[in-house]
Amino acid sequence: MIVVIDFGSQFNQLIARRVRENNVYCQVEPSNIPIEKIKALHPEGIILSGGPSSIYEENSPTMDKSLFDLGIPVLGICYGMHYMVHILGGKIKKASKREYGFASLEIKDSDPLFKDMETGFQCWMSHGDSAIELPENFKITASTQNTPIAAIANPEKKFYGLQLHPEVEHSINGSKMIRHFLFDVCKCSENWTMKSFRDGAVAQIKEAVGDKKVIMGLSGGVDSSVAATLIHKAIGKNLFCIFVDNGLLRKNEKQTLEKNLITNLDLNIKFVDAQDKFLTALKGVVDPEKKRKIIGNLFIEVFEAQASEIDGAEFLGQGTLYPDIIESKSAFGGPTSIIKSHHNVGGLPEKMKLKLVEPLQLLFKDEVRKLGTELGINDDLIWRQPFPGPGLAIRIMGEITEKRLNILREADALLLEEIKNAGLYRKLWQSFAVLLPIKSVGVMGDKRTFANCIAIRAVTSNDAMTADWAKLPHDLLGKISNRIINEVENINRVVFDITSKPPGTIEWE
Ligand code: XMP
Repeated sequence: MIVVIDFGSQFNQLIARRVRENNVYCQVEPSNIPIEKIKALHPEGIILSGGPSSIYEENSPTMDKSLFDLGIPVLGICYGMHYMVHILGGKIKKASKREYGFASLEIKDSDPLFKDMETGFQCWMSHGDSAIELPENFKITASTQNTPIAAIANPEKKFYGLQLHPEVEHSINGSKMIRHFLFDVCKCSENWTMKSFRDGAVAQIKEAVGDKKVIMGLSGGVDSSVAATLIHKAIGKNLFCIFVDNGLLRKNEKQTLEKNLITNLDLNIKFVDAQDKFLTALKGVVDPEKKRKIIGNLFIEVFEAQASEIDGAEFLGQGTLYPDIIESKSAFGGPTSIIKSHHNVGGLPEKMKLKLVEPLQLLFKDEVRKLGTELGINDDLIWRQPFPGPGLAIRIMGEITEKRLNILREADALLLEEIKNAGLYRKLWQSFAVLLPIKSVGVMGDKRTFANCIAIRAVTSNDAMTADWAKLPHDLLGKISNRIINEVENINRVVFDITSKPPGTIEWE
């Protein structure tokens, strides 16, 4: 395995993913990880990530220097390279001008990272500081026009440094450099596959849970479905899933899930109809935060009541993913870092005295999808776009009524149908309809109308932290608009949201 040391880079998850794409397991650890812990992991190599700090700044992140005495290959990227240069006796200089964007990388000396590469290819740079003096026994292996020391190597110790960012897609040959580090320098083996993960996870769950019962809330999303299927594979009918229908679901959602999860996967699921409860509690509520609180609290209440009917449950299953775990440690870790609670069913495990089973907590989203395929879950479910816990409530601006929910359901279903027909569903992070709290005048069949307005929201994103509005083709937008106005009663206007995140958010509330 490989350990990625987090110096605060926005790209450290990307580094981890690049490693895993090569079927090599890796873990991101905060820079203040004790050296004993690194040793205990027995890594074949260590990657020091980039970061926003400058090496001589007060409070810039550091780590135990004895890392360089372990006899383990090290690759430093950007700040990680500066740190290595600094600790081993070289010098870093604050650049007068930040180098940001593309540069041509000229190979100057032999370096296993550049094996089989022709000199002069595009790489992506983003740095203020640069190395100006190398530690002993290091050589410069590549330069760019603005950065004479763009790559360094100490082949004897197997220490390598890259000023460029090999992990971003824009760096041509970047993935290859990482591959070469893994296989030519660290001599890793390719044994991290979803099949091996599945078998290992099933064995671990069996051992941890034994013949005890696990309860789990299913949302119909990818993560909880895959987690439940995996747990089910390990303990079968001792997994009790609960799906709460809060009345805020999309058109035919419940039927689709029943087909996918019960018919196809044989999960033991109790569907709880709590529509009236939620809609009554939401009556007259227009404030977005109030809506969210009411829905969150009611969910816990309903889930808890159902769970208490399952005698002797000792575990709660959850679909927590690796990015949640990484984000929950602060960039530089340490005892003072704030641990965010990522429990989807907030507070339940403590309150109900349940132990957690979180079998996906080492996986990224794309790996969860691969695991889902390995488990036999069908593509429709695996490639679902995310849907928020509070459901359509935060896509109806203003009061939530049965009538308004139905208008939105119809419009949303048409929109999704057209997005799928256009082959765009998987390319978009999310695409959905929003019902606005305004009415406007229109004319239909020579008659004046005064009806509701739907907004189309479609975004591209990798992680929902940032997002861009999707540049949907005009003819597709036209088709969606026509169909919604013609086929959904009480809609006479459709608008398209062209706001990115930031400054907007993906959802409207
Ligand atoms: P925003 O609107 O904050 O959304 O840009 C980012 C992503 O999170 C989803 N989202 C939620 N998911 N419970 C969830 O499970 C929630 O309360 C919630 N709010 C937003 C949203 O759909 C988007 O993918």
